[in-house]
Amino acid sequence: MSSAPFVFVTRQLPEPGIELLLQAGYEVEVWPEDRPIDRAVLLNKVAQCDALISMLTDSIDEEVFDHAPQLKVVANFAVGFNNIDVALARKRGIEVTTTPNVLTDATADLAFGLLLAAARRFTEGEQLVRSGQWDGWTPTQLLGRPVAGQTLGIVGMGAIGQAVARRAKGFGMSIVYHNRRRVDAAIEEALNARYVSLNDLFSQSDFVSLHAPLNDESRHLVNADSLAKMKETAIIVNTARGPLIDEVALAAALQRKQIFAAGLDVFAEEPIIEPQLMTLPNVVMMPHLGSATVTARRDMVELCCRNILAVLQNQPALTPAPAVN
Ligand code: GLV
Ligand code: GLV
Repeated sequence: MSSAPFVFVTRQLPEPGIELLLQAGYEVEVWPEDRPIDRAVLLNKVAQCDALISMLTDSIDEEVFDHAPQLKVVANFAVGFNNIDVALARKRGIEVTTTPNVLTDATADLAFGLLLAAARRFTEGEQLVRSGQWDGWTPTQLLGRPVAGQTLGIVGMGAIGQAVARRAKGFGMSIVYHNRRRVDAAIEEALNARYVSLNDLFSQSDFVSLHAPLNDESRHLVNADSLAKMKETAIIVNTARGPLIDEVALAAALQRKQIFAAGLDVFAEEPIIEPQLMTLPNVVMMPHLGSATVTARRDMVELCCRNILAVLQNQPALTPAPAVN
């Protein structure tokens, strides 16, 4: 019987992959197919493993823990952890870690890109050019919304929300925010960000960008009621988690021009897209690419490996999932 710790990885990872674990002499197995792992395979593999690297597409729940007698740590390859029952894991003595910080700039860049793309109608313009139908400049073509000088409402002022605020500052935007807890006065001052209620944020903002974790309180925080409070020129951006938005209500609001546009990187039932969103020109959609840069993904892999090494060597995890509630 080998005494080397066994680590199972539920999806192929970008280079340099799990080098650090191999260097430590660990035994590592990676699910070889580039699609979400079959549940039966996952349940079978966790029966033997000391550590698991999981994806946001894997549901790590009681059934998984019931099959995993020697599991010590689940390193989630994501900053979000709504796919894991963290409280139950800790009750069973299993640590859960995430990948904060290393993907902050990548995700904030994408959020700001979606903000610009939705405001200035990048995808409609691109389609017009590629269709061969563009017949030249006109004073009235594809008029968008201004960005400079506008008010950005940030829901969830953690690391990513703050990084978006820093970008917005460079565009001369005013910033309001809402967060479960008000952030330090020094941060508010540095970002020139004003704390407001969620209702005020919806009614005052020209842009609303979502950066809150998904939990029972945040599910559908954008719904028919909140959309009704928004300006008819407003633009909503979501790079956090799809279920923060009631997509049916959003599609209806976009359809009747109750708000101007949306930029979405995440969806309620990925990879299924609410059919009505598919038909609307005023929504820019990306396939969940928030952290998808070469450097962010490389650093996420490394952080997963370092968390596993720490926990299996009886050290505190570097980036444990925050305790929920
Ligand atoms: C991606 O969605 C993440 O949570 O890192
Ligand atoms: C537009 O191209 C302009 O020159 O104003």
